[in-house]
Amino acid sequence: MPSTSDLPSTFYCTKSIDFSKAVDSSTLKDKSVIVTGGANGLGAGCVTAFAEAGAYITVLDINEENGNALASALTEKGYHVQFTKIDATSFASQTAGFKSAISFSPHSTLDLVLCAAGLTGLGMNAWLEKVSKTPDADPSPPSTATIDVNLTGLFYSAHLSLYYFKQTAKLGDKSSKHLIFVSSLAGYVALDKVADYNASKFGVRGMWKAIRNANGILGEEGPGFRTNLVAPTFIRTQMTAAIEPGLLAMGISLGEIEDVTAGVMRLACDESISGRAIAIAAREKMAGDRNFDLGDDWEGLDAGRETLDKIRDGTLHSLELVGGGQGNKYDRGNMFRGEDGNVIS
Ligand SMILES: NC(=O)c1ccc[n+]([C@@H]2O[C@H](COP(=O)([O-])OP(=O)(O)OC[C@H]3O[C@@H](n4cnc5c(N)ncnc54)[C@H](O)[C@@H]3O)[C@@H](O)[C@H]2O)c1
Repeated sequence: MPSTSDLPSTFYCTKSIDFSKAVDSSTLKDKSVIVTGGANGLGAGCVTAFAEAGAYITVLDINEENGNALASALTEKGYHVQFTKIDATSFASQTAGFKSAISFSPHSTLDLVLCAAGLTGLGMNAWLEKVSKTPDADPSPPSTATIDVNLTGLFYSAHLSLYYFKQTAKLGDKSSKHLIFVSSLAGYVALDKVADYNASKFGVRGMWKAIRNANGILGEEGPGFRTNLVAPTFIRTQMTAAIEPGLLAMGISLGEIEDVTAGVMRLACDESISGRAIAIAAREKMAGDRNFDLGDDWEGLDAGRETLDKIRDGTLHSLELVGGGQGNKYDRGNMFRGEDGNVIS
């Protein structure tokens, strides 16, 4: 194993996650939380878990119908959840969403943001079917929708989180402000020929790396800051519905929303976890039982060592990560086709 003991202190590494520790969800009581993309899928699963822990949650999503339905269902149970419609690709729209969360919170503050809004990608095979044989026909511009939502949208969310963490901080805040990025295992290895999604998820990881050690970024007088990242495998949600049969045919198990919720709750509730990336793997027996710390730092060789070990021991499927060659049945580029060449969302 390569040693890092000779590295200067700027090559900072934080403590690996202790998965044996119990998750104490009471730490979230009355916390002011935003979940972008919280109307569906894994975002909605986390909204429910945060609500059950007694937090005040604002769901920010473009899907008004599902967002309102989720907020109403949880409010009827006595939890504190509101929905505000946003388009994550608009800074003004997200700003209005963040302000509504602060108004909704019991102490006019913001404590935790989970950035889960996202779109799937479009396989590159689908692009090339549109090449015209007419010599002077110009190409149409490719859709940037996936990059706009997954990367630019998340950049806006990260910016607004830091801004409002600082602006609404109260003297004597005991717990640190917390920003959780939802990337993907596609932010670690190639999702074969799905360039837009792959690029967006590597981009999210890059953004997280840039601030993962910035514990003092909210100022000397301000509260502490921590940021962590979740990198799920394929999870059974509407995003994967179209490709699920293909994945199962390849023997690839999908994770469940509860596997993600288990990872996110561990991060959210344990103040000692800072600057860590957690992989969400499909469970063996219980929700989250195969999740692991990616070691995405100098000591972990930028997650390379853990990822490879987990492929070798069967926790992750190598095909799930690297796809297969052009033209064979494992060609990932053929799975992400969208309808009429559009992005599947
Ligand atoms: N499902 C998976 O296999 C998987 C794996 C790894 C990472 N992820 C990531 O997890 C996140 C959630 O995915 P999911 O599987 O729950 O998908 P999902 O489609 O169920 O949920 C995504 C949510 O994002 C919202 N959204 C999309 N565009 C938006 C916009 N412009 N503004 C605001 N909201 C918008 C959607 O309305 C939806 O509610 C995404 O970032 C996704 O890339 C998912």
